[in-house]
Amino acid sequence: MTRTLADVAREASTCTRCKLSGMGRTQVVFGVGSPVADLMFIGEAPGRNEDAQGEPFVGAAGQLLNTLLEGIGLARDDVYIANVLKSRPPGNRDPEPDEIEACTPWLVEQISLIQPRLIVTLGNFATRYLLQTTQGITRTRGQVYRWHDRWVIPTFHPAAILHGGGEKSRQFQEMREDFALVQRTMAGGSPPVVRPAPAADRPEPAVVRSTPAPAPGQTARSAPPLIIPEPAVEEQLGLF
Ligand code: URA
Repeated sequence: MTRTLADVAREASTCTRCKLSGMGRTQVVFGVGSPVADLMFIGEAPGRNEDAQGEPFVGAAGQLLNTLLEGIGLARDDVYIANVLKSRPPGNRDPEPDEIEACTPWLVEQISLIQPRLIVTLGNFATRYLLQTTQGITRTRGQVYRWHDRWVIPTFHPAAILHGGGEKSRQFQEMREDFALVQRTMAGGSPPVVRPAPAADRPEPAVVRSTPAPAPGQTARSAPPLIIPEPAVEEQLGLF
Protein backbone atom coordinates (compact mmCIF):
# COMPACT_ATOMS: atom_id res chain seq x y z
CA MET A 1 0.00 0.00 0.00
CA THR A 2 1.36 3.44 -0.92
CA ARG A 3 2.30 5.61 1.98
CA THR A 4 0.58 8.93 2.33
CA LEU A 5 2.38 12.20 2.92
CA ALA A 6 1.15 12.09 6.52
CA ASP A 7 2.69 8.61 6.94
CA VAL A 8 6.01 9.89 5.61
CA ALA A 9 5.87 12.98 7.83
CA ARG A 10 5.26 10.78 10.86
CA GLU A 11 8.22 8.59 10.00
CA ALA A 12 10.46 11.60 9.33
CA SER A 13 9.55 13.17 12.67
CA THR A 14 11.94 10.83 14.48
CA CYS A 15 14.62 10.83 11.80
CA THR A 16 18.20 10.34 12.96
CA ARG A 17 19.74 9.77 9.52
CA CYS A 18 22.13 12.69 9.86
CA LYS A 19 24.15 14.37 12.57
CA LEU A 20 21.76 17.33 12.77
CA SER A 21 19.38 15.17 14.79
CA GLY A 22 21.90 15.32 17.64
CA MET A 23 22.94 18.95 17.20
CA GLY A 24 20.23 20.78 19.04
CA ARG A 25 17.31 20.60 16.64
CA THR A 26 13.99 21.03 18.43
CA GLN A 27 11.99 19.09 15.88
CA VAL A 28 11.95 17.91 12.29
CA VAL A 29 10.40 20.49 9.95
CA PHE A 30 8.89 18.30 7.29
CA GLY A 31 6.71 20.57 5.18
CA VAL A 32 3.36 22.30 5.09
CA GLY A 33 0.48 22.82 2.69
CA SER A 34 -1.69 20.88 0.34
CA PRO A 35 -0.67 17.24 -0.24
CA VAL A 36 -2.06 17.56 -3.79
CA ALA A 37 -0.56 20.96 -4.60
CA ASP A 38 0.30 21.73 -8.20
CA LEU A 39 2.84 24.24 -6.99
CA MET A 40 5.63 23.45 -4.54
CA PHE A 41 8.27 25.73 -2.99
CA ILE A 42 11.62 24.43 -1.81
CA GLY A 43 13.91 26.39 0.48
CA GLU A 44 17.18 25.55 2.13
CA ALA A 45 16.72 24.48 5.74
CA PRO A 46 14.69 25.47 8.80
CA GLY A 47 15.85 28.51 10.73
CA ARG A 48 15.29 29.28 14.40
CA ASN A 49 11.58 30.12 14.10
CA GLU A 50 10.87 27.12 11.91
CA ASP A 51 12.73 24.83 14.30
CA ALA A 52 10.63 26.20 17.18
CA GLN A 53 7.27 25.97 15.38
CA GLY A 54 7.82 22.89 13.24
CA GLU A 55 6.76 24.64 10.02
CA PRO A 56 8.84 25.96 7.11
CA PHE A 57 9.01 29.68 6.40
CA VAL A 58 7.24 31.08 9.44
CA GLY A 59 9.76 33.82 10.30
CA ALA A 60 10.32 37.11 8.54
CA ALA A 61 11.33 35.32 5.32
CA GLY A 62 8.07 33.39 5.53
CA GLN A 63 6.09 36.62 5.85
CA LEU A 64 7.70 37.84 2.65
CA LEU A 65 6.88 34.56 0.94
CA ASN A 66 3.27 34.94 2.08
CA THR A 67 3.14 38.46 0.61
CA LEU A 68 4.46 37.22 -2.72
CA LEU A 69 1.98 34.35 -2.74
CA GLU A 70 -0.90 36.72 -2.00
CA GLY A 71 0.33 38.88 -4.87
CA ILE A 72 -0.52 36.06 -7.27
CA GLY A 73 -3.76 35.17 -5.55
CA LEU A 74 -2.53 32.20 -3.52
CA ALA A 75 -2.43 31.28 0.15
CA ARG A 76 -0.04 28.91 1.88
CA ASP A 77 -2.76 26.23 1.92
CA ASP A 78 -2.90 26.26 -1.88
CA VAL A 79 0.73 25.23 -2.27
CA TYR A 80 3.23 22.95 -0.57
CA ILE A 81 6.32 24.37 1.14
CA ALA A 82 9.36 22.34 2.15
CA ASN A 83 13.11 22.60 2.51
CA VAL A 84 16.03 20.56 1.22
CA LEU A 85 17.01 19.85 4.84
CA LYS A 86 14.38 19.00 7.42
CA SER A 87 16.50 19.81 10.47
CA ARG A 88 18.01 23.14 11.45
CA PRO A 89 21.77 23.40 10.99
CA PRO A 90 23.31 24.96 14.10
CA GLY A 91 23.63 28.72 13.79
CA ASN A 92 21.93 28.49 10.38
CA ARG A 93 25.18 27.38 8.78
CA ASP A 94 25.10 25.96 5.25
CA PRO A 95 23.94 22.37 4.85
CA GLU A 96 26.83 19.90 4.55
CA PRO A 97 27.09 17.22 1.86
CA ASP A 98 26.51 14.27 4.21
CA GLU A 99 23.41 15.98 5.61
CA ILE A 100 22.06 16.58 2.13
CA GLU A 101 22.69 13.00 1.13
CA ALA A 102 20.95 11.68 4.23
CA CYS A 103 18.00 14.05 4.08
CA THR A 104 17.04 14.38 0.42
CA PRO A 105 15.26 11.00 0.20
CA TRP A 106 12.54 12.72 2.25
CA LEU A 107 12.33 15.49 -0.35
CA VAL A 108 12.21 13.01 -3.22
CA GLU A 109 9.39 11.19 -1.46
CA GLN A 110 7.53 14.45 -0.93
CA ILE A 111 7.80 15.35 -4.61
CA SER A 112 6.79 11.86 -5.70
CA LEU A 113 3.67 11.86 -3.52
CA ILE A 114 2.60 15.44 -4.21
CA GLN A 115 3.48 15.37 -7.93
CA PRO A 116 3.58 19.17 -8.32
CA ARG A 117 3.50 20.50 -11.87
CA LEU A 118 5.79 23.35 -10.97
CA ILE A 119 8.51 23.66 -8.34
CA VAL A 120 9.86 27.04 -7.28
CA THR A 121 13.34 26.83 -5.81
CA LEU A 122 14.07 29.60 -3.34
CA GLY A 123 17.65 30.76 -3.48
CA ASN A 124 20.99 29.39 -4.52
CA PHE A 125 21.04 26.34 -2.38
CA ALA A 126 17.78 24.67 -3.44
CA THR A 127 18.31 25.72 -7.07
CA ARG A 128 21.82 24.33 -7.25
CA TYR A 129 20.71 21.12 -5.61
CA LEU A 130 17.71 20.53 -7.85
CA LEU A 131 19.18 21.63 -11.17
CA GLN A 132 22.64 20.29 -10.31
CA THR A 133 24.30 23.50 -11.36
CA THR A 134 26.94 25.75 -9.93
CA GLN A 135 25.42 28.83 -11.53
CA GLY A 136 24.25 31.51 -9.16
CA ILE A 137 20.65 32.48 -8.65
CA THR A 138 21.09 35.83 -10.39
CA ARG A 139 21.65 33.94 -13.65
CA THR A 140 19.21 31.08 -13.16
CA ARG A 141 16.24 32.97 -11.76
CA GLY A 142 13.18 33.95 -13.71
CA GLN A 143 13.37 31.17 -16.27
CA VAL A 144 11.47 27.94 -16.66
CA TYR A 145 13.46 24.73 -16.59
CA ARG A 146 12.24 21.30 -17.49
CA TRP A 147 12.92 18.83 -14.68
CA HIS A 148 11.60 15.28 -14.52
CA ASP A 149 8.46 15.98 -16.50
CA ARG A 150 7.66 19.08 -14.54
CA TRP A 151 8.81 22.69 -14.43
CA VAL A 152 11.22 24.43 -12.13
CA ILE A 153 11.41 28.21 -11.72
CA PRO A 154 14.27 29.43 -9.55
CA THR A 155 13.95 32.71 -7.70
CA PHE A 156 15.69 34.54 -4.88
CA HIS A 157 15.52 33.34 -1.32
CA PRO A 158 13.19 35.67 0.62
CA ALA A 159 15.87 36.07 3.31
CA ALA A 160 18.22 37.48 0.67
CA ILE A 161 15.63 40.17 -0.08
CA LEU A 162 15.33 40.98 3.61
CA HIS A 163 19.10 41.32 3.94
CA GLY A 164 19.43 43.30 0.73
CA GLY A 165 17.09 46.25 0.89
CA GLY A 166 13.68 44.67 1.46
CA GLU A 167 10.60 45.43 -0.55
CA LYS A 168 12.10 48.55 -2.11
CA SER A 169 14.99 46.67 -3.65
CA ARG A 170 15.44 45.75 -7.30
CA GLN A 171 15.66 42.09 -6.26
CA PHE A 172 12.23 42.24 -4.70
CA GLN A 173 10.83 43.66 -7.94
CA GLU A 174 12.53 40.81 -9.82
CA MET A 175 11.12 38.30 -7.38
CA ARG A 176 7.64 39.68 -8.03
CA GLU A 177 8.29 39.23 -11.74
CA ASP A 178 9.33 35.62 -11.06
CA PHE A 179 6.08 35.05 -9.18
CA ALA A 180 4.16 36.53 -12.10
CA LEU A 181 5.94 33.99 -14.31
CA VAL A 182 4.87 31.27 -11.89
CA GLN A 183 1.29 32.48 -12.17
CA ARG A 184 1.39 32.58 -15.99
CA THR A 185 3.00 29.15 -16.17
CA MET A 186 0.41 27.62 -13.87
CA ALA A 187 -2.45 29.29 -15.73
CA GLY A 188 -1.25 28.66 -19.24
CA GLY A 189 -0.38 25.00 -18.95
CA SER A 190 2.58 25.62 -21.18
CA PRO A 191 5.32 27.98 -20.02
CA PRO A 192 6.35 30.96 -22.13
CA VAL A 193 10.01 30.00 -21.93
CA VAL A 194 11.54 26.62 -21.40
CA ARG A 195 15.30 26.56 -21.13
CA PRO A 196 17.52 23.64 -20.41
CA ALA A 197 19.11 23.41 -17.03
CA PRO A 198 22.47 25.21 -17.13
CA ALA A 199 24.33 22.10 -18.11
CA ALA A 200 27.64 23.73 -18.83
CA ASP A 201 28.07 24.50 -15.17
CA ARG A 202 27.16 21.16 -13.80
CA PRO A 203 29.70 19.90 -11.35
CA GLU A 204 31.64 16.90 -12.53
CA PRO A 205 31.52 14.04 -12.01
CA ALA A 206 27.83 14.39 -12.61
CA VAL A 207 25.19 11.94 -11.56
CA VAL A 208 24.01 9.19 -13.91
CA ARG A 209 22.57 10.57 -17.12
CA SER A 210 19.76 8.82 -18.89
CA THR A 211 19.90 11.27 -21.78
CA PRO A 212 22.21 10.58 -24.70
CA ALA A 213 25.48 12.42 -25.07
CA PRO A 214 25.22 15.49 -27.30
CA ALA A 215 25.43 14.75 -31.02
CA PRO A 216 28.58 15.89 -32.82
CA GLY A 217 28.46 19.62 -33.23
CA GLN A 218 25.86 20.00 -30.51
CA THR A 219 26.99 21.69 -27.33
CA ALA A 220 26.14 20.33 -23.92
CA ARG A 221 24.02 23.43 -23.32
CA SER A 222 21.69 22.60 -26.19
CA ALA A 223 21.56 18.92 -25.29
CA PRO A 224 18.48 17.44 -23.63
CA PRO A 225 18.07 19.43 -20.52
CA LEU A 226 18.25 17.43 -17.41
CA ILE A 227 20.60 16.03 -14.92
CA ILE A 228 18.93 12.77 -14.14
CA PRO A 229 19.38 11.34 -10.69
CA GLU A 230 20.00 7.68 -10.25
CA PRO A 231 17.30 5.42 -11.68
CA ALA A 232 15.94 4.56 -8.24
CA VAL A 233 15.21 8.23 -7.67
CA GLU A 234 13.51 8.55 -11.03
CA GLU A 235 11.30 5.65 -10.12
CA GLN A 236 10.39 7.33 -6.89
CA LEU A 237 9.52 10.51 -8.74
CA GLY A 238 6.89 8.52 -10.60
CA LEU A 239 8.50 8.77 -13.98
CA PHE A 240 8.52 5.08 -14.74
N1 URA B 1 14.86 29.65 5.22
C1 URA B 1 14.67 28.48 4.57
O1 URA B 1 15.38 28.15 3.63
N2 URA B 1 13.68 27.72 4.98
C2 URA B 1 12.89 28.03 5.98
O2 URA B 1 11.99 27.25 6.29
C3 URA B 1 13.11 29.25 6.64
C4 URA B 1 14.10 30.05 6.24
